[in-house]
Amino acid sequence: MRQVLRMRRMTRVLLLTVGGSFMAAATVNAQANKDLIAQGQYLFAISGGCACHTVPKETYHTGGRAFPIPLGTVFSTNITQDKETGLGSWSDQQIHDAMNAGIRRDGSRLLPVMPYEAYSGMAQQDLKSLVAYMKTLKPAKKATPDLKTWAPMVRSVAVPVYLRVFGGSSNSPAQAPKSGVERGRYLVNHVSICGDCHTPRNSIGVPNRSQYLAGTVAKNGPLGEEVPNITPDKETGIGDWKREDIAELLITGTKPDFDNVQGLMSEVIQGTPHGYKDMRREDALAIADYLKSIPPIKNKIK
Ligand code: HEC
Repeated sequence: MRQVLRMRRMTRVLLLTVGGSFMAAATVNAQANKDLIAQGQYLFAISGGCACHTVPKETYHTGGRAFPIPLGTVFSTNITQDKETGLGSWSDQQIHDAMNAGIRRDGSRLLPVMPYEAYSGMAQQDLKSLVAYMKTLKPAKKATPDLKTWAPMVRSVAVPVYLRVFGGSSNSPAQAPKSGVERGRYLVNHVSICGDCHTPRNSIGVPNRSQYLAGTVAKNGPLGEEVPNITPDKETGIGDWKREDIAELLITGTKPDFDNVQGLMSEVIQGTPHGYKDMRREDALAIADYLKSIPPIKNKIK
């Protein structure tokens, strides 16, 4: 009898231990997932809150913002978890491929208005966390208007040709650089994509790489906005700004002369609702240090 009792007790202890370690493992997993999502939210913030996917003053992330392209008009898509009109029924890999390679779920091409060429250089770990965060965006139903164009076969022919001739994809490192000018270069080119607005484009939307970050007049600017020269040229760029001035502008939107930035720049700073304003100061300073290291280009905007 005593023997049986002892056996039972031992079984109970054993079961409790096994059950306990399952629960401990589940807690560790849940914590790891929480950390991944928090990291993804930070990435989302310093990507300017993916502001192009929000029409100002409408529901966040439901897309439908019109972007003029040489062949017509393309609309940004709903990136919420709505199953019908958003990304709710996409797998992680499908979201990854859209962001990293511009390939849609049905295998066709996204127009390079979506900056997947820049994002192709985003570190695997960063992209993974960003996708994990995107899966937490509250579903909101809003259908994306179709591409409006007078040209046939834009996705099947024009985009692949454009990419072959002008494309600039990068290799995605496993991990992002952690600090210094290398971190700044990484953020500017592959996460916060300053060049998407600050590097001018020609009439068919190809970035003019010899004018890297040198700004553009309103006529050729994104959504018709004038964009300043942020190279370190002293006269026409921001060569006389201190590194702290640049970091301050990224986090608060305030310029050294106490004026506030407007338009698209203020949208990416304010975010949706996460934006550059949530950037860690050391990241903002890394961006500033990188901007101070690039060649100054004389290009008067105003
Ligand atoms: C979505 C487009 C967009 C993105 C992305 C963007 N900017 Fe801007 N930026 C603008 C516009 C437009 C202005 C002009 C705002 C104004 O005149 O009030 C501006 C203004 C600035 C200014 C003020 C310069 C001056 O002379 O007044 C700085 C500095 C700047 N941006 C840096 C950056 C950096 C660094 C990044 C990337 C981390 C970045 N921007 C990303 C559109 C953008």
